[in-house]
Amino acid sequence: MNRTPLIAGNWKMNLDHLQAIATVQKLAWTLKDARHDHDDVEVAVFPPFTDLRSVQTLISADKLPIRFGAQDLSQYDSGAHTGDVSGAFLAALDAQYVIVGHSERRTMHGETDEVVAAKTAAAVKHGLVPVVCVGETGEQREERGAGVVAVEQLQVVLDAVQPAEIVVAYEPVWAIGSGQAATADQAQEECAAIRRGIAAAWGEEAAAATRVLYGGSVKSGNIAGFLREPDVDGALVGGASLDVQEFAAIARFRQHVGL
Ligand code: PGA
Repeated sequence: MNRTPLIAGNWKMNLDHLQAIATVQKLAWTLKDARHDHDDVEVAVFPPFTDLRSVQTLISADKLPIRFGAQDLSQYDSGAHTGDVSGAFLAALDAQYVIVGHSERRTMHGETDEVVAAKTAAAVKHGLVPVVCVGETGEQREERGAGVVAVEQLQVVLDAVQPAEIVVAYEPVWAIGSGQAATADQAQEECAAIRRGIAAAWGEEAAAATRVLYGGSVKSGNIAGFLREPDVDGALVGGASLDVQEFAAIARFRQHVGL
C-alpha cells in the first residue's frame, strides 16, 4: 500500500489572518523554488479559525497546492453552541482536514475520548478528513508502558465511527513542545500498534490505507529518522511549522536521506 506522506503544520494559537496570508505565500514560494512535488509529499497547514477564510481565498485564487484544515470542530451541526464551529462551515470553506482530540483540547477543554469520537464522526459526516490525535502522558507511559494508551484512546473512536478516511496522529504528550521528541523506534512501535488497532476494528484494508503520523518536537533535523520507519506516514508539526524555512525543510525530508 502506497501511502502519500503528509506533513501537517499545526499553528495552534499563533499568526493572525494577515500573518497567515504572508506565511502561506512564503511557504508556497519556498516549496516551488525547491521544486517540491506535492503529489509525492502532501503539505497541509492548520491555522486558527479566524485565518481560514483568508487562507482559503489565497490558496484558491493562486491555485496553490497546499492543503488546509482547522484545529477543532464542534460535534454538532448547528445551534446553541456559543463559540463552537460546525464542520459544515469548514466544509463550505473547502477545508480538507480538521484536527480532532489534540492533547491541548483534551487537557484544557476536558475533551474525553467520547467527545473526540463524536467530533471525528462529525468531521466524516461533513466530508472532512479528521486528523485524530492520540498519545500518552509521561506518567501514563511509566505506569502502563508503551503502545497502550494511544491505542485505547483510538479504540473509542474506531468503535463509534464507521470505516472512513481518517488520519491518526500519535503525539506523546511528553514530547509536545518539549524539544524532546520520541525516538524513531518509539514512534514506529506506537504507530504499528495503532495500525494493528485499526486492522482489528476496521479491517486490514483500512489499516493499510490509513496514514499514521508522528507528532511532538519534530524538526528538520529529526524528521528523516521518523519517515524511514515503515508505519510512520508523516508528521504533525507544531512549533517548527511557524518557521517557513524549517517547515519547508521538514516537508523536503526525502532530500535529507535520499528516501
Ligand atoms: P510541537 O507540537 O511540534 O511544537 O511539539 C506538536 C503538536 O502539538 O501538534
